[in-house]
Amino acid sequence: MYNEIDLDKIDMNAEPPAEEPARQYYFMAKCREWVQEFERIHGGGPTACIQTFGCQMNAKDSEKLAGILVAVGFDETNSEDADFVLYNTCTVRENANQRVYGRLGQLGVIKKKRPDMIIALCGCMMQEKEVVDKIKASYRFVDLIFGTHNIFQLPELLCRCLMRENPKKLVAEIWDGTDKIVESLPAERKYAFKSGVNIMFGCNNFCSYCIVPYVRGRERSRNPKEIIREIEMLVADGVVEVMLLGQNVNSYGKTLTNPISFAQLLQLAEQVEGLERIRFMTSHPKDLSDELIEVMKRSKKICPHLHLPLQSGSSRILKQMNRNYTKEQYLELAAKIKNAIPEISLTTDIIVGFPGETEEDFQETMEVVEKVGFDSAFTFVYSIRTGTPAAVMDNQVPEDVVKERFDRLLKQVQTTSAKVSGRQVHTVQKVLVEEVNSHDSRLLTGRLENNTVVHFPGEPQLIGTITQVFLDEFKGFYYMGTIVQDREER
Ligand code: 5AD
Ligand code: SF4
Repeated sequence: MYNEIDLDKIDMNAEPPAEEPARQYYFMAKCREWVQEFERIHGGGPTACIQTFGCQMNAKDSEKLAGILVAVGFDETNSEDADFVLYNTCTVRENANQRVYGRLGQLGVIKKKRPDMIIALCGCMMQEKEVVDKIKASYRFVDLIFGTHNIFQLPELLCRCLMRENPKKLVAEIWDGTDKIVESLPAERKYAFKSGVNIMFGCNNFCSYCIVPYVRGRERSRNPKEIIREIEMLVADGVVEVMLLGQNVNSYGKTLTNPISFAQLLQLAEQVEGLERIRFMTSHPKDLSDELIEVMKRSKKICPHLHLPLQSGSSRILKQMNRNYTKEQYLELAAKIKNAIPEISLTTDIIVGFPGETEEDFQETMEVVEKVGFDSAFTFVYSIRTGTPAAVMDNQVPEDVVKERFDRLLKQVQTTSAKVSGRQVHTVQKVLVEEVNSHDSRLLTGRLENNTVVHFPGEPQLIGTITQVFLDEFKGFYYMGTIVQDREER
């Protein structure tokens, strides 16, 4: 990991090395020369603002991008009135794209006032040709574009951007795919005490509505040794909770030269001393093994929470979605998990209005929601993604029908989750204290092992610790609590 390479020791007169990550460290040193010159002229360092759209994968990528920028001397800021602004984009649904275009328009206004600022775009949206064409035609103030496969190249691309002769010329580098995994670049964590850890990249499932396999490429797993080494370094740096990240963590390890299962990886992670909590995201019902359930059941560190996307409760629609399980199989799996780990919290994703979804299909989704009793569910309106098989399917469901079903589902989800997710009220639970409550600074906010949020009075120095909290009251989707020690002292 980072800290092993001293930028001052890099020979800037030599040719850039061909191999990674040495090549990117070379360009980081070059970017730093530019930063030092900037400091000399302006009397202070340049500022950089990264805006992240989308999922946990993007959040993790943004930490890597921030790590590189901070290492070369940029000061991170939340304001888009900055010397370097980078949007890390999402394209999973059309509204994600629209949000980026809207924000980009506003950024163009800022750039009119400060023409020297650099505007960069990266992430999933950039893997789509129509998007890049649109940016080239209508957002000509953008300076730099790169895709999901070459995030690690930020130093090299930024250098190219800073050194270009014509400041109006767009620098663009978008790879179609890669099997490359570049290790050992810096990262700037958002939280000191918890961190995401990529265990794999890409997805091979090709659910028929989903654009992810096209924009994030084929599935490839990181070497377990590298993963464990990263976790050990994070723990040495104060991290107590890791979230193992992959589009479908249950198929981890299949592409390795020496394949291991996800459950085996979890067992290795559990052995890291000082690590208190392990989470992971996302699971695919078709690949969730008995071995994993057994390992979770026995573990003291693996949190009792499974995010298990259902997508639809109709076997007919699930087949059209290419999900590879039926309604019955999902129900059976959920029952098996709850039986083995009674305290588990199950959460899910559901899409409403997939092409051809009838009222009967939708009723089956409602029924599964009721039967499983999810702690919470993310509900989405089906969004056409160009290039996916579902985009060209007949009988797309009319917008008003989808909207009406969506509202009914949301109510159903709220009712069922309110019934089940407050079950720990009046018990003492371990809480990882995460931050001062954003609405009331007298309160702290943390998470139970099963991921439910709890707010309670407390001092900010508890942030990052695991504290015993009595859950006084359940408020629909979060608890209000009291630190056990404070309760006893009353
Ligand atoms: N339309 C609506 N929702 C989608 N998702 C993925 N693709 C689409 C789409 N085209 C949802 C799925 C997935 C979550 C991350 O986003 O429910 O689990
Ligand atoms: Fe998309 Fe399906 Fe892969 Fe999830 S498993 S990223 S929904 S293709």
